[in-house]
Amino acid sequence: MNDQISKRITSFLKNHFQLEWNGIHGASHWARVRQNGLIIARQNGADPVVVSLFALLHDIERRSDGSDPEHGARAARLVQELNGEYFNLHARQMDLLRQACELHSDGETYADITIQTCWDADRLDLGRVGVKPDPMLLCTAAARNQDLIDWCYLRAKRWASDLAPIKRTHHLLRCYSLIFNRGLII
Ligand SMILES: [Fe+2]
Repeated sequence: MNDQISKRITSFLKNHFQLEWNGIHGASHWARVRQNGLIIARQNGADPVVVSLFALLHDIERRSDGSDPEHGARAARLVQELNGEYFNLHARQMDLLRQACELHSDGETYADITIQTCWDADRLDLGRVGVKPDPMLLCTAAARNQDLIDWCYLRAKRWASDLAPIKRTHHLLRCYSLIFNRGLII
């Protein structure tokens, strides 16, 4: 993904997301999910392009930080509409991204390795709401690594405890570079 397209996606995400940009389902969460997913993908061969797009888009259709059972299905429909304009996935990749988005909050664990990696990347970020990821609820062997679980948990918890606005701003800037910096795969 070149810079021009990155900027277009950034601008789309900003305009489209209805919740707090730095809330529990906002940009910093997407950045951590993306990093988690790419770490796992390097070990298990999951498609890093699909994993990255999942990170940016799986919660984009949330209308509430609380219960919102249809947000995955809405995201699945949206990613189909965005393909060809903001990114170019072939049919197999689109199928994986759609399924990963649609079912990501249903607690399932069995799927294609790329979909499993997307779901694990999201679940490894539960520390932001005070929940330690349970290895039994993770899909991939790579994500069940206790060192990785601990690292993700502490990082997400740190974000949640960074209540001072200036710290939040610094965290958000780091997240921007994680999401959008040059050299990342999408
Ligand atoms: Fe999420």
